[in-house]
Amino acid sequence: MNIQEFLGNVEGFKEAIEEREILKRVFGDLTLPKDFVESFVSLLHPKSIDVKAVDIIEETPSTKTIRLSPKDGYLPPFRAGQYVSLKVKIGKVLTGRSFTISSPPHTRGYYDVTVRRMEEGFVSHYLMDDVKVGDEFQISAPSGSFYHEPLTDGKDLVFIGGGSGITPFRSIIREVIDRGLDFNIWLIYGSRTTDDVIFGDEFKAISEKHKNINYQLVVSEPPAGYKGVTGFITADVIKDFLGSVKGKTFYMCGPNLMYSFVMPELEKLKVPGRRIKKEAYGPPADITKEPGWPSDVSPDKVFKIKVNGEKTIDAKAGEPILSSLERAGLVSPYLCRSGECSYCRTKVHVGKAFMPDRVPIRESDRWYDYIHSCMAYPLSDMEISY
Ligand code: FES
Repeated sequence: MNIQEFLGNVEGFKEAIEEREILKRVFGDLTLPKDFVESFVSLLHPKSIDVKAVDIIEETPSTKTIRLSPKDGYLPPFRAGQYVSLKVKIGKVLTGRSFTISSPPHTRGYYDVTVRRMEEGFVSHYLMDDVKVGDEFQISAPSGSFYHEPLTDGKDLVFIGGGSGITPFRSIIREVIDRGLDFNIWLIYGSRTTDDVIFGDEFKAISEKHKNINYQLVVSEPPAGYKGVTGFITADVIKDFLGSVKGKTFYMCGPNLMYSFVMPELEKLKVPGRRIKKEAYGPPADITKEPGWPSDVSPDKVFKIKVNGEKTIDAKAGEPILSSLERAGLVSPYLCRSGECSYCRTKVHVGKAFMPDRVPIRESDRWYDYIHSCMAYPLSDMEISY
């Protein structure tokens, strides 16, 4: 029996063919063009998007929001909490940084990225001081997994933010109130001073108007006579604000120091680990303070790294290898710059690098000497390839 005879015996096959012929006569050829799926996927997840700054909003003395609109009229959809990687050219260095989109997903004409000046930073000074309306950039498509997951997260959410780590919560809260979603949200924001509070007036106004949104500011260095909550985000502060932690999902976004402090406080409150989500927040301000850093290596020590069997570059021990590559004019793939996405996966052929334990590198990559160069620091002369 050949294949045609066999198919002719399959129940319903003849009817399906007849139906297909009728559909063809009525609607024309329904066969998808060969590259249909690929072009559809690239609409939703373009490799890069050309955008320009259409507005710059001063948020605090140390923070600005840059509003980015597409050059050709289209931005892909995203989930509140996701980030984009913004590429910049500063002098001869082509580099980039990841910024969570602080605007909500239903504002489809632009993405807001909110930038805070980091004293030791390189890109933040440029974005704060030199960028003006009309400047053009390339950004990645939205990425990341720090968003509400309806199947596991429930509808009672506690957001704990520090510094510019407030941005994903702004996007989520704006979506919740603008779309009338039935979530209960408790937002705790830790700020060093009252001048540095990002979106403070906006959250205060929202919480006064919407019963399901609660806002607590915690200031660690308050001015004299300040009457609000002061100090750090301790178990007591959390408990006083929330009442019970039961059934609530905790989201944290802020500097690594904040995680080190707040995680034990959540343990004291017996919040289960599966109920805590943490957003990656870039490399530490000072790698030498990370557990496991070898005390005999100075962060200023300069090593030689041979890249892809060709160029040899200088790399400081205290700087991620990805940054040293960029300083030397080399282009290496990256996205999150926080050790999470694996885009910067790099093979080490010779030498040694330090990576904090929390970098989620695959076990097999550890065996076969791969690193995430955005969170790896040289400890010797090296040879690498990517
Ligand atoms: S850029 Fe994401 S892991 Fe390095």
